[in-house]
Amino acid sequence: MIEQRKADHIRINLEEDVGFDRLTTGLEHYRFVHQALPDLNLADVDLSTSLFCKSLRAPLLISSMTGGTERAHLINRNLATAAQEAGIAMGLGSQRAALEDPSLADSFREVRPVAPDVLLFANLGAVQLNYGYTVDHCRRAVEMVEADALFLHFNALQEALQPEGDTNFAGLLDKVEAVCKNLEVPVVAKEVGWGFSQETARRLANAGVAAIDVAGAGGTSWSQVEMYRADTDVRRRVAATFVDWGIPTAESIQMVRRGAPHLPIIASGGLRNGLEIAKAIALGARLAGMAGPFLKAAVVSPEAVLETIEVTITELRATMFCIGAASLDELRDTPHLVRRTYHAL
Ligand SMILES: Cc1cc2nc3c(=O)[nH]c(=O)nc-3n(C[C@H](O)[C@H](O)[C@H](O)COP(=O)(O)O)c2cc1C
Repeated sequence: MIEQRKADHIRINLEEDVGFDRLTTGLEHYRFVHQALPDLNLADVDLSTSLFCKSLRAPLLISSMTGGTERAHLINRNLATAAQEAGIAMGLGSQRAALEDPSLADSFREVRPVAPDVLLFANLGAVQLNYGYTVDHCRRAVEMVEADALFLHFNALQEALQPEGDTNFAGLLDKVEAVCKNLEVPVVAKEVGWGFSQETARRLANAGVAAIDVAGAGGTSWSQVEMYRADTDVRRRVAATFVDWGIPTAESIQMVRRGAPHLPIIASGGLRNGLEIAKAIALGARLAGMAGPFLKAAVVSPEAVLETIEVTITELRATMFCIGAASLDELRDTPHLVRRTYHAL
C-alpha cells in the first residue's frame, strides 16, 4: 500500500497542477535594493558552505522525494548523479516502505555509491514514533543509505487527509527527543509544505533537533496531491478546503529564526529560482531546498537536473553580485533586502 501511495505521489506531482491556489511563499513581498557599483568581481562570489561537517559547493538541497517504487530507481539515480557532480546536498524520500519490505530498499541504497561525497539525508515520518518505531528504526534508515543526518518529517495535515493516515501525534515530542539523544547522526525536523511556527520551532529545538527545514507553504501543496488521490467525494471536498493552508515560506523562516535562534535553518517550500533562494538566505537560511522542480528534471536525465542546478546557482551568484555580497555570510547579513511597500492607487 505504501509503495502504491508513493507511485501515486510521483505521478500526480508530474501530471497535475499541485500548486497552492492563492497563497504564495511571501518572498515576492521582499526585494533587493540593486547596488550599481558592487565592490566585487563576479568571479569572486563564493557560494561554498558546510553543514554537519560536509562541504557544499553551493547552499542547495534536493529536497526529500522518493524511493521504493519502480520509477524511483531512475529518479534517485539521476538526482544523485547531479548532486555529486554539482557538490550540493540531497534528501531521500521516506524510507518506511523499505524498512518494512527490504525488497524495496534498492532505490535508496543505490544513491550513496553514486554520490559518495554529498551531504545525504535519510528520511522517516516523525509520527511513526507513535506507531512502534524506535531509535533503532531511525538507525536502520540512516545505515541503509549511509546518511549524514536524518530528516524526521512532520506532516500532520497530510496524514489527516489520507484515508490510511497515521494521525496520532499526541506525546510525540518526547519520542523525538529520545531519537535526538540516542541517534549517532544529527536529526533535522522537516515539514512537507505547511511550515513551522515559532512555538513549534522552539519546542523542537528544546527536544534537541540539530536543524529545521521549514518546508513552508507556497510551492507543492500536499492537500492538492491528496485531493487528486481521494477516492470519495467527501475526501476530495475536505482536501480541497485546505488548498491554501499553511505558513508561507518567508514567514516560517522568520518564525523559526525567532523560535530557534541558534539552529541552522533550511529554507524550502515553493523556492523556484536562485533569486528566491537569495531572499530566503537573506532572511536567515543556511541552505535552500527544492523538490518539485527537481522531480520534473529527474524524470528526463541527470543533465536536466544539472541544468536546473546551474541555472539556480547562476541566478544566486548574480543576485549576490548585484547587492555586493561576496559570501553567504554577507548575504545573510545584507542590509539590502527590503520589504516592498505598496502605494494605494
Ligand atoms: C513527489 C514528492 C514526494 C515527496 N515525498 C516526501 C517524503 O517522502 N518525505 C518528505 O519529508 N517530504 C517529501 N516531499 C516534500 C518535499 O520534500 C518538500 O518539502 C515539498 O514538496 C515542498 O517543496 P517544493 O515546493 O519545492 O516542492 C515530497 C515531494 C514531492 C514532490
